Order: sequence, then structure tokens, then C-alpha cells
Amino acid sequence: MRKKIVAGNWKMNTIVPEGVELAKAVVAKSAEVPAEVGLVVAAPFTHLAPVAAVVKGTRVALSAQNCADKEKGAYTGEVSVDMLKSVDCEYTILGHSERRQYYGETDAKLVEKTRLALAAGLKVILCVGENLDEREAGKHFQVVSDQTKAVLYNFSAEDMKNIVVAYEPVWAIGTGKTATAEQAEEIHACIRKVLAEKFGAQVADDTTILYGGSCKPSNAKELFAMPDIDGGLIGGAALKADDFIGIALSF
Ligand code: 13P
Repeated sequence: MRKKIVAGNWKMNTIVPEGVELAKAVVAKSAEVPAEVGLVVAAPFTHLAPVAAVVKGTRVALSAQNCADKEKGAYTGEVSVDMLKSVDCEYTILGHSERRQYYGETDAKLVEKTRLALAAGLKVILCVGENLDEREAGKHFQVVSDQTKAVLYNFSAEDMKNIVVAYEPVWAIGTGKTATAEQAEEIHACIRKVLAEKFGAQVADDTTILYGGSCKPSNAKELFAMPDIDGGLIGGAALKADDFIGIALSF
């Protein structure tokens, strides 16, 4: 049985003391959530060490939002996978649409980052998703399949045990415009099919695929009821512990 996960992507929000308080509130409320639901908080780099101290020994796992595509050395401003491991990160998000759109993240870089992250013992939450133009042109299945293949087809079935996919339609991120449960489900099923073609049905069936984009307590239940939606990658609503936990209670 694949793992259910609700992950909060804090993006570039909160200063360190606020992030620490948010993590404490999430930990405090996490007991309400059924044990089989994995809880993850993806904090900014500056927050990782103090938030790690808060979540240590709890059921809440720590994630970064990105990592460098190089191992170490003269890469000013970058943060390596070893640095993330050294502050007890369990996951890193990779390929978020905001990084693809604003910071020139390419599939080739994502392959390198994923390779380094897995080698360091990090789990990867790989984001894919079409933009509004692509959706309106009816290219969403193609775009998401291509993005998934471009990165994940470079890895093995064994690697897939440490990879989570997040489908985040760009037009639904931060817009209040959620994909309908049916729209999300048909893309999740497509991603699973793409995984099955390369890795076989069992690996596809075991891979956690999250939905992200204006997910909140009021719409999470409908989304999570879909057979191929295994949880959420939450932006805005993850900044309030009550909303984040409310979403995690929606299975
Ligand atoms: P919102 O939940 O704010 O739409 O953001 C989704 C997202 O991008 C999570 O990574």
C-alpha cells in the first residue's frame, strides 16, 4: 500500500521565529491525524536547522524546497544535499513550477539534483504540472507525461521507492482556483500509467502521487477521495497549522 502524505510547502514565507512557531503548532496538532498519514513540512533553508530541532523525534518530517545540482565547491549561494542531510532533512522538493518558471530549472538540472539527493539518502518530491496555456490548448496530458518521463525515466525501480510525485497545475497554484477532483484524478492516473510503462505496475501502484494547487480543508476531502490522489502538497494553507492539519484529516 502506498503512503498517504500531506506536505506543507512554506515557500518564501515566515521569518525563522515564525517558522519555528508554525512547526511547533503542527507538531502539537499532529496527534489528531491518523498514524498512516505522513506529515511533512518544507521550510526555507534558513529555517531548516531550528525547525529540525522542533520536529526531531516527532512524526513530522522535514523537507527542503530545493537543492544544488552540484555536490560541493565554488557555487556561491547554493545549498548541497549533504548540507540538507546534516540538518536532518528527510525530503527535498524538486522541480516546483516556481523554480522552473522563475529560476530556469531545466529537466537536465532536475535529473542531476534528483541523482544527488537520492545518493545522499534524501527522498525527493518531484513536481510536475501544466500551465494555463497548455491546459487550454488541451496539452496537459502530454506536458505532464513529458515532464515525468524527462526526469524519472533516468532512474530505477529501486530509486522510485524514495520518490514522490506532486501534480501541481500551475493555473491552480495560489490562485484559489483548484483543479476539480476529476481533473486532478485523470492526470494522476496518467502519471501512474507513465510510471507503469517504465517501472511496471507494482512500482506505479506503490508510488505516492500528491495534488497541489489551492488545496484547503474545504476541498481536500473530495480530492483525496479519488483513487489515484494520495495526499497533497500544500502552499498557502500550510502557513496555518489548523488548516494544514484540517487537510491532513481529510482522507
Ligand atoms: P497553494 O496551495 O498556495 O496554491 O500552493 C500550492 C503549491 O505550489 C505547493 O507547492
